[in-house]
Amino acid sequence: MSTYDVIIIGSGPGGYVSAIRCAQLGLKTAVVEGRDTLGGTCLNVGCIPSKALLHSSHMLHEAEHNFAAMGLKGKSPSVDWKQMLAYKDDVIGQNTKGIEFLFKKNKVDWIKGWASIPEAGKVKVGEEVHEAKHIVIATGSEVSDLKGVEVDEKTVVSSTGALELNKIPKKLVVIGAGVIGLELGSVYKRLGAEVTVIEFLDKITPGMDGEIQKVFQRTLKKQGLEFVMGAAVQGVTTKGGKATVTYKLRKDDSEATIDADTVLLATGRRPYTDGLGLDKLGVAMSERGQIKTDDHYATNIKGIYAIGDAIDGPMLAHKAEDEGMACAEGLAGQKPHVNYGVIPGVIYTHPEVATVGQTEEQLKDEGRAYKVGKFSFMGNGRAKANFAGDGFVKILADQETDRILGAHIIGPMAGDLIHEICVAMEFGAAAEDLARTCHAHPTYSEAVREAALACGDGAIHA
Ligand code: NAI
Repeated sequence: MSTYDVIIIGSGPGGYVSAIRCAQLGLKTAVVEGRDTLGGTCLNVGCIPSKALLHSSHMLHEAEHNFAAMGLKGKSPSVDWKQMLAYKDDVIGQNTKGIEFLFKKNKVDWIKGWASIPEAGKVKVGEEVHEAKHIVIATGSEVSDLKGVEVDEKTVVSSTGALELNKIPKKLVVIGAGVIGLELGSVYKRLGAEVTVIEFLDKITPGMDGEIQKVFQRTLKKQGLEFVMGAAVQGVTTKGGKATVTYKLRKDDSEATIDADTVLLATGRRPYTDGLGLDKLGVAMSERGQIKTDDHYATNIKGIYAIGDAIDGPMLAHKAEDEGMACAEGLAGQKPHVNYGVIPGVIYTHPEVATVGQTEEQLKDEGRAYKVGKFSFMGNGRAKANFAGDGFVKILADQETDRILGAHIIGPMAGDLIHEICVAMEFGAAAEDLARTCHAHPTYSEAVREAALACGDGAIHA
């Protein structure tokens, strides 16, 4: 039995970041992880591997569509799927080993196995019971079920199975036009699959700014993705390695079916807290299965905390990381704060989509007077040179004070561009502050400045 200041359960971005921060602040720290490698869903079967496949498939797209126009002649590369998966696995390995290295460097112990909490102050792993003043639950999330759809990770897959298919399907049906469905749908479309996305609502990516939703869907359609909107999937049947998806159109209740070689279920995730023994401990949970916490990530049981996908809020790695750091700093006696109003969201398709703060729809609902500064990447020299003129930057600012309230970008490197706006928002900046900041030419970032200028006397290149 060992005794720690903090034991963190789960080594995903929430857990491992929290552990490193705890150790930096002088707390004796261990992380319990039952997987063979550290890093949780994000590094093993989520963000990182999907980005490897998005990158390789985008390279193929560039070779097929843009190389010749740039004077790069020759046959486009063909896909060696096994090698592409090996490349993805190598990327996973580099990243998960990186966390192991950071644990050693920071003297964080890795307790291997699955944890339960027999009582506050104790964590059981296998037959061993470890003691800790503080226990942080960072167990993340798992794929939500959908009635009538059984995931076998071969013909009907979740995002996990979609990252290691035996072969590239001829026909892929994606259930759910959210982040996972559109990122992985894009990968397989670029690799030659026919991709149909079935979505319950009338718009893709629920909760995003309406204008982005429209332009994003149009862009994906241009890339060849097909959409069945307003359709509730009723069930999936499989036979001989093929699948048939049945759905009902909400407008007239009519039923239809569609055949597929592979079906990707991407209708959301739910908190994962199985096996921890929270019920017995009496840890308060929400109706949606989230662990209830206060502003300091404390549960109703003294000494037990929770962060990341297992609690309320967007299921994003960087939200979990921020909570992990804040929780650690709180345990070390500091006074941390996470600003939930400035958490960016990014979809890593091509073009990328990035968003922060309020949408136009939210501002209208609030009755807030706002102005819109918009700039198309068509007016950006660098984007034109790189065949990346599709999309725009939109900044929403308060009508009176010019304070930035939100920003929504679809375009090249949107996921990186958004952060200058995040920083500006953290400083309570006005759009004019961005507009008066010199931006290097020629960069995509100039489009952000132009959108900020458009909140005032006007963009220059519009
Ligand atoms: P999601 O919540 O983003 O989207 C699910 C979609 O499925 C919604 O549009 C919903 O209306 C639709 N849907 C639900 N039931 C349906 C039915 N019966 N028939 C048809 N459509 C139906 O969920 P997703 O894409 O599975 O992602 C899960 C979580 O992982 C999200 O919280 C997401 O933020 C996170 N994630 C984030 C990434 C990123 O930041 N780039 C990448 C991947 C995942």
